[in-house]
Amino acid sequence: MKLRHLVAGLLTAGLAFAAFAQQPLVIKFSHVVAQDTPKGKASEFFAKRAGELTGGKVKVEVYANSTLYKDKEEMEALQIGAVQMLAPSLAKFGPLGAREFEVFDLPFIFDNSDELHKVTTGPVGKQLFGKLQSRGITGLAYWDNGFKSFSANKPLKAPDDFKGLKMRIQSSKVLEAQMRAVGALPQVMAFSEVYQALQTGVVDGTENPHSNLYTQKMHEVQKHMTVSDHGYLGYAVITNKKFWDGLPADVRGQLEKAMEEATAFANKIAKEENDGALEKVKASGKTQVYMPTPAERLALKKAMVPVHKEMESRIGKETIEAVYKATGFDPGKL
Ligand code: LMR
Repeated sequence: MKLRHLVAGLLTAGLAFAAFAQQPLVIKFSHVVAQDTPKGKASEFFAKRAGELTGGKVKVEVYANSTLYKDKEEMEALQIGAVQMLAPSLAKFGPLGAREFEVFDLPFIFDNSDELHKVTTGPVGKQLFGKLQSRGITGLAYWDNGFKSFSANKPLKAPDDFKGLKMRIQSSKVLEAQMRAVGALPQVMAFSEVYQALQTGVVDGTENPHSNLYTQKMHEVQKHMTVSDHGYLGYAVITNKKFWDGLPADVRGQLEKAMEEATAFANKIAKEENDGALEKVKASGKTQVYMPTPAERLALKKAMVPVHKEMESRIGKETIEAVYKATGFDPGKL
């Protein structure tokens, strides 16, 4: 009798284990932007390929638009293991203590995406990921968004036009310095709160690539936008280090392959998505889009580039110089 019970118990446990073993491993991937953006599309692409390449062993659940966590909470959630993957913008690593990432926020440091890729795919990109390990984070890839435009309810053509404007920024001391360099008042705010803050006048303006501006409908509450391309906004796809190291090696390899494909996809669509969003903003007729002249852009550059020197002690001189070396940027030649 007892033996029968034991056998039955073992069988039930065995069946339960087999059923459990067949459950896919769930990876929660949280981000703050709309699905219809470079990051939104790339994360969906990754989820699809991760499922295919692991033969269904892994299910990636993507939570877009801050539905699961906002900017600050998502970093904490990753570190405690409540989510397994994120793709925060590079400007959001400073508060973790990884200040070197703010080198990407320096105004006018990249002239184009090719220069940026020399950094992200080179030794600097790798070294920066190394800084995350001690914080329980593994960096998996850099994904593009693009170059930022400024927006406000007044035209922004010359550095003086920014004086006294409350400008929403991401949580980066470099962006804070960039806004102060033209006399604006920077206000750090979670991405999910920007639309309402612009609508109610809590802030006067902001900066973002066009895909973010359009999909959050910021153009509906901003009368003017200047295509200044003054700075870059991109992402680091990150995972919880303990979770990642604990994956079976074959599954980890398949996920790395899915990430490689998703990265190529992200970087291929980013520019098209931003160009498309700019056209939609123009077509909406709600925001007047201004293309600065080369002289106007140079004046803005001259006003903002001193931020590089000012931020040297925060970011690290070596990191800034390594980026200059990779891109050929020379602050002395303006
Ligand atoms: C922002 O906060 O403006 C951006 O970092 C949002 C994003 O993830 O693109």
